[in-house]
Amino acid sequence: MNAIEVHDLVKRFGDRTVVDHVSMTVETGEIVGFLGPNGSGKTTTIRLMCGLLTADGGGGTVLGYNLETDALKIKREVGYMTQRFSFYEDLTIAENLDFVARLYQLKPRKDYVDRTLEDLGLTSRRNQLAGTLSGGWKQRLALAACIMHEPKLLLLDEPTAGVDPKARREFWDEIHRLAAGGLTVLVSTHYMDEAERCHRISYIAYGKMIATGTVEDVVRDAGLTTFVLRGARLGEVARALAETPGVDQVAPFGTTLHVVGSDAKALEKALEPFRKRDGVTVERGETSLEDVFIQFMSSSQDNMQ
Ligand SMILES: Nc1ncnc2c1ncn2[C@@H]1O[C@H](COP(=O)(O)OP(=O)(O)OP(=O)(O)O)[C@@H](O)[C@H]1O
Ligand SMILES: [Mg+2]
Repeated sequence: MNAIEVHDLVKRFGDRTVVDHVSMTVETGEIVGFLGPNGSGKTTTIRLMCGLLTADGGGGTVLGYNLETDALKIKREVGYMTQRFSFYEDLTIAENLDFVARLYQLKPRKDYVDRTLEDLGLTSRRNQLAGTLSGGWKQRLALAACIMHEPKLLLLDEPTAGVDPKARREFWDEIHRLAAGGLTVLVSTHYMDEAERCHRISYIAYGKMIATGTVEDVVRDAGLTTFVLRGARLGEVARALAETPGVDQVAPFGTTLHVVGSDAKALEKALEPFRKRDGVTVERGETSLEDVFIQFMSSSQDNMQ
């Protein structure tokens, strides 16, 4: 059984279609990254999948339960971490967890709270007010609260936004530990390094699913060619290249320039004059996931117009 199997989900707000025939399959035990520009429908799709919103079209199953008829069962077995911190700042970590344990009617409550605190390394801070926690610890509390009732599926909505790299690393180690124990995870993020820690990724733009697969699949299928330029006066080179047909993206990275195009021949031709410049070297580079996403964004915006 797949943990998530939904097809052609549609959600409209007024006359705007913000989720437009989205289909997604997530295998049990898989960690799938959900990426896409702001306002593209990630949060809305996640809320459809945990039964908090009703779809205007499409359907499917989550944990084997029908989205349309079994929303209550889905809510019980899914852990949903919202995009914004939604705990009581004037309660301690332990009190917040106790409150959540009450909501889920977990018994004995104290055992659940103590075990969860221990599991996520929160025991030493159990009496600290949630409002005084740093970003990384807040996220850890939020994760604790959504796994305490032992869900089978985690839906995490930008769980690490604004968290420092070390705390993010630890958060992801934790996600992998949970997945190794059989939990399935769908996680939205804007961070490329986090996308690379997922088994698979899905990219949505303006309500439409654009690509899905492993990071390698998505990068390869995008069919982009990348060159790296090194040398003097690259600012001037960048300005000239931006105007040249065949060049889709020009971006300085430190002392180098990344030049990306979807038509390899046209890109080679565009770069030809710069190969002859004094002190400029032109070499083939690896296309990054970020390059691919930037390309997706510019082409889907064109489609919107
Ligand atoms: N309750 C609502 N009523 C009206 N419009 C809404 C509502 N919720 C979301 N939207 C709109 O739906 C679109 C998709 O929003 P959503 O929050 O799902 O995007 P997102 O991909 O999660 O974006 P972000 O990366 O910024 O979190 C946006 O244009 C948003 O303004
Ligand atoms: Mg969102």
